[in-house]
Formats: sequence, C-alpha cells, structure tokens
Amino acid sequence: LAIFHFNETYRRSSFLRLDKFLAQSGVGIRKVVRTYIKDGKVSVNGMIITEPAKEIDENADRIVFLGEIILYAPKVYYMFHKPAGCITATKDAVHKTVFDFLHELDQKGIFHVGRLDQDTEGLLLLTNDGEFEHQLMSPKKDIEKTYFFWALGSLGEEDIRKIEQGVLLSKDEPLTKPARVEVQKSGLLHALKCEIPAGSYCALDYNEQLQHVVSGTLTITEGRKHQVKRMLKAVGCYVIYLKRISIGGLTLDETLEKGQYRLLTEAEIRFIFQSHQ
Ligand code: URA
Repeated sequence: LAIFHFNETYRRSSFLRLDKFLAQSGVGIRKVVRTYIKDGKVSVNGMIITEPAKEIDENADRIVFLGEIILYAPKVYYMFHKPAGCITATKDAVHKTVFDFLHELDQKGIFHVGRLDQDTEGLLLLTNDGEFEHQLMSPKKDIEKTYFFWALGSLGEEDIRKIEQGVLLSKDEPLTKPARVEVQKSGLLHALKCEIPAGSYCALDYNEQLQHVVSGTLTITEGRKHQVKRMLKAVGCYVIYLKRISIGGLTLDETLEKGQYRLLTEAEIRFIFQSHQ
C-alpha cells in the first residue's frame, strides 16, 4: 500500500528543495524547473543558485525567477468530468478544449494532469501544482488508472491473461506493465446495444445479429498514448466507448454532470495516492 503523505510533504514544512518550491509555485513541472535552475535563471536572496536540490525556506527566503519574485501560491486541485468531443489541451484553434468548460474558474497557472483522448470521457484532474503532477505521473509511483470500456469483439480467458501479463503495443516499446481486466457484459450487439452509450457506434455499420461486443474495466499504471485502446486492440477488440472512472483511490463523482468540475477535498487528494487494495 503506497501512501503518499500529502499534507506533511506539501503544507507543513517551510523548508523544501528549490526545484520543488518552484514546481509547487506553478513556475513549471519539476523537469523544466530544474533546467531553469541549472541555466542560472533563479536566485535565492540575491545569489544565483544552480543546484536544484538546494534547501530553501519558503517563508523567509527571497526567490527570484527571471527578475520576478516567486510567492508561494495556494494550491488548488479540481476534479473535472470530461465529456467526449473536447481535447485535453490549454488552447486549440479548431477544437473545444477542457478549459472552455471552466468559465468561472481563475485559470491562471491551472493545467491538466495527464491527458484523455478527444473521444474519451471521465475523470481528469486539474491543478496549479507542478509537484503534484510530478508525483502522479511518475512511472515509479505506479498509480492505478481504471477505465470502463465497450468494445467490439470478445475477451476470452487467454486474452485476459495476455492483457494482465503484458502485451506488445509496437516493436519499439517494452511490454505493457501488469494490468487488471474485469469483464462486465459480453454478448451480441443486438442484445446489448441499449446499454451502450448513445453515439458510440454507427448502427448501420454492423450486423447486429453477428457482431459480438464486450464491456468491462481495465486498470493500468502507465500512461502511454491511446494505451487502453491499443491494449484491447492487441487482443482483437476495438474500443467504441471509453471512460476513466478512477485514479488511484479517487473515483469520479457521478453527481458531476459531464462538463462540470469541483474542488477536491483534502481526503480525496490523499485517496489518489492510496491504492484500491
Ligand atoms: N487510453 C486510451 O486509449 N485513451 C485514453 O484517453 C486514455 C487511456
């Protein structure tokens, strides 16, 4: 059970690493902030510091980045119920983005944590805390993400075993890390189509008497591009509907309508870093 002591690490100590402080203050993600420090763009009490691990006191030290004093910004964390059809980006000339749904929010410094495909729905986190993103996205943390899917095809025992043990998505990538699959519904399209969310498939394209469909959940700990779709494709299933339902121990609040968001509670922030088991 991996428990990340969120409160202690983030809120109580006034001494912390310079790179962590800058990431938490919304200057950038930790990787980027480290290059700023190494490039001599950051000073502490008037001295250029090029060591990202330098301990600073956020209450007493004067931290300047490119001529601007960096103040410790209060951190905010939101849960967003992403609808299908918008893209996970801050700006786009053509498509609606997730930020088009956040009208009433002060969006300054807020960014999305990870991405969902344009046609994927569900739980997306938004924050101004670069360190939080770093912890969540770190491959070492193995944070579980669970997706509910409908797919054309069927999942036999052998397919499930393959997905759970690791599949090859392309010859340039390592096998996927161990995953978990739970099949919920399996049968012919004509019998199950009333349960598939509207708009997920074009009825004319399939012979409903012959086409097999399957639904279930897939839990992964990585975040490769189109990973769920590609893992299911590797065993002959074509995803027609996808929704992220949880991240770590945090589940999407189903009272949030698609397109709505709300602040996370302190307890929910902690749940993210706790596994379901
Ligand atoms: N896997 C996918 O295939 N798509 C997503 O949006 C997320 C995970």
